[in-house]
Amino acid sequence: MHRSLGKSRLLGVALVLVVCGAPVRADAGPAPYLDARLSVADRVSDLLGRMSLADKLGQMTQPERRYITPDEVTRYRIGSVLSSGGSAPSPNTAKSWADMYDGWQRAALAAPLRVPMMYGVDAVHGHNTVVGATIFPHNIGLGASRDPELVRRIGAATAEEMAGTGVDWDFAPCVCVARNDRWGRTYESFGEVPELPTMMTTVVDGLQGEELGGPASVLATAKHFVGDGGTAGGGDRGDTRISEEELRAVHLPPFQAAVKRGVGSVMVSYSSWNGLKMHENRYLISDVLKRELGFGGFVVSDYNGIDQIDGESGFSRGEVVAAVNAGIDMVMVPTEWRRFITYLGDAVRGGDVSMSRIDDANRRILTKKFELGLFERPMADRSYLKTVGSAAHRELARKAVAESQVVLKNEDDVLPLDGDKFFVAGRSANDVGMQSGGWTITWQGEPGPITPGTTILDGIRKAAGSGATVSYSRDGVGLDDSYDAAIVVVGEKPYAEYHGDRTGDLGLDAGDLATIDRLRDADVPVVVVLVSGRPLDIAKQLPQWDALVEAWLPGTEGGGVADVLFGEAEPKGRLPVTWMRDGGQEPINKGDGKTPLFPFGYGLTFE
Ligand code: GLC
Repeated sequence: MHRSLGKSRLLGVALVLVVCGAPVRADAGPAPYLDARLSVADRVSDLLGRMSLADKLGQMTQPERRYITPDEVTRYRIGSVLSSGGSAPSPNTAKSWADMYDGWQRAALAAPLRVPMMYGVDAVHGHNTVVGATIFPHNIGLGASRDPELVRRIGAATAEEMAGTGVDWDFAPCVCVARNDRWGRTYESFGEVPELPTMMTTVVDGLQGEELGGPASVLATAKHFVGDGGTAGGGDRGDTRISEEELRAVHLPPFQAAVKRGVGSVMVSYSSWNGLKMHENRYLISDVLKRELGFGGFVVSDYNGIDQIDGESGFSRGEVVAAVNAGIDMVMVPTEWRRFITYLGDAVRGGDVSMSRIDDANRRILTKKFELGLFERPMADRSYLKTVGSAAHRELARKAVAESQVVLKNEDDVLPLDGDKFFVAGRSANDVGMQSGGWTITWQGEPGPITPGTTILDGIRKAAGSGATVSYSRDGVGLDDSYDAAIVVVGEKPYAEYHGDRTGDLGLDAGDLATIDRLRDADVPVVVVLVSGRPLDIAKQLPQWDALVEAWLPGTEGGGVADVLFGEAEPKGRLPVTWMRDGGQEPINKGDGKTPLFPFGYGLTFE
């Protein structure tokens, strides 16, 4: 029956008036959940009590920015929006990102309860989708540095560049343990033993700060839970067929370390464990990660990860039920987010997903939003825009590049380079795109001047000095005996995820081999620098090379490579992965009894 307000007794009825958007009570200040003086737990409980099922379903939904409008974010109370790899505003500048972020946030705040959204990106080696951002070495190079404090500082610098653009959720670090170098994501791993990614979870402290919500604090994500680096044959998104004992010994420790550091979110792996898709593995997600490890943050699916549970294309109501009941709290459902909301709502009304599971997911998500300070400071902090690609961050990146270089051969101490006439060759010598690898501006990365940076050739020119002669020939044509040394920079073209899986030959391609061969006619020491995301099969060619340096994927600050070549920096890098004698040895790892070309931990110094 409709009751007009004039007849009803107003006494004792607290009217929640919506005044300038913020829910307030007629009798006092803001609603408790908007009162920053209260505990996060109390604020979450108050907010949950005000939320409808539609509000709660929206909080668990993460569309991709290209497939939703701001009005739909408001209407469906969407909890988070993401940029998938390479998905950037136009123009792709830090300021445009801040404008974009604020636009999404205003849309989220326009909903009745004004719950702020989180914006997620893969800032896996710097804020790498933003043109002009500092691009740091990929994780495999950082693993070679064995320097956890350096990695923490990289996390902090990345968080500053993200904060300037507003982006407050980083789908990083990957704490995977890469056991087979054929895997296309080997370079996203800090190394082949659990100790290295465990050691480097300091990046979580860098990204999140001492505690969430401080200046330039962003939510970190430990990924991909669990065992993504142990799949059979190194196939991305494949099946990890190992005992629980091995899973716990090799792949779980980095997640334990990240949880201990207070990582705010964990992303589930596309891969399977002994045939069961991780996205429906209730035992590992809920019983092990949440209960046994005590993970208090929230679990996010991977991109369309729930679509792959039943092996059929697209997702079904059953897959939604399986994933949410397994313990996934936020679902990365880039395009079909309306259908996801419909299916999950049906499942709750039909009793297949309990309201307590929905409330647990919301409690976890909202707790992180309150801890991040998003209710008080929802918009981009543009005071950090000046840090994007700053000299200080590039200097830190250059230091990281130098510390990640691994000198694998140095015949007759040809390194550090000495002299005043150098010949540089190779397709990776003068190319910021090649030296940055995947997840740079675009998802797959690409060759070319894709973002401001210093190529390895630029670095060599600076290190050699203005009085020196440095010639560059991409294909190696023109070397003669007048040169003091030839430096040839070759390796892998950029790739990401399964596009980088290499089931066949793991050697250099014909073009690179031909370039190196052209240098052999002159009686000049040849220094090979490999720009690659993994060890390559080079044992046959190695005897003809005088020196070999593995540069990994250094990012925008190629000067760090030259710093080691010319002795401005002592080589400190040690292999984070075992270097095969030939591709047939993969998987090859420390302690497996095989005889590698270079063992895990190998690296020469100039002493
Ligand atoms: C990708 C990756 C994951 C990334 C996500 C969002 O497919 O597996 O690492 O965070 O999608 O881009």
